[in-house]
Amino acid sequence: MRTSFFATPGGLRLHVLIMVIALLVIAPGQAFADGLAPLTDQPGNPAEGERLVRDTSRASCLICHTISTLDEKDQGEIGPNLDGVADRWTEAELRLRIVDARQLNPDTMMPPYFSLVGLYKVAEAYQGQTIYSAQEVEDVVAFLMTLITDEAVE
Ligand code: HEC
Repeated sequence: MRTSFFATPGGLRLHVLIMVIALLVIAPGQAFADGLAPLTDQPGNPAEGERLVRDTSRASCLICHTISTLDEKDQGEIGPNLDGVADRWTEAELRLRIVDARQLNPDTMMPPYFSLVGLYKVAEAYQGQTIYSAQEVEDVVAFLMTLITDEAVE
């Protein structure tokens, strides 16, 4: 299974992935409480991030979260409402929550969107793949950074 992962083409993405995984394995727990630096050189695209957040075929965030500026009906209430989430967390803190929320809460229901560590019962077609690519994480974070309710944000 892991062999197919290492055989994945795309050198840079693989390199970043291995770095992230190594960090998560070497220093688990609160070591990342401050968050994570950008995973790619290319800044995230908020419009693309919004598309991903709303994409019901890609573990949509709206199953568990509500964002009231989006007009989907029946949004989720399992996780916190994400209105104004950029007022509460920095970009780096948001990135960490998307990459692997288990670093903050090992029992979280939120899927780790950019980690291959400790997953089980992964369907064969998805083995060795993260839910999002590094760039998709950046896009989602860029979209979350637009969710501001408080003018007095740093
Ligand atoms: C299966 C449910 C589930 C899904 C799907 C999910 N989350 Fe979460 N999320 C949670 C829960 C529960 C929390 C509360 C903290 C915890 O338990 O880890 C959370 C916390 C968060 C937080 C921190 C919010 C705060 O105010 O503290 C952010 C940001 C977040 N999620 C964004 C997302 C995004 C973006 C997606 C989609 C890419 C997503 N979540 C998908 C369940 C989910």
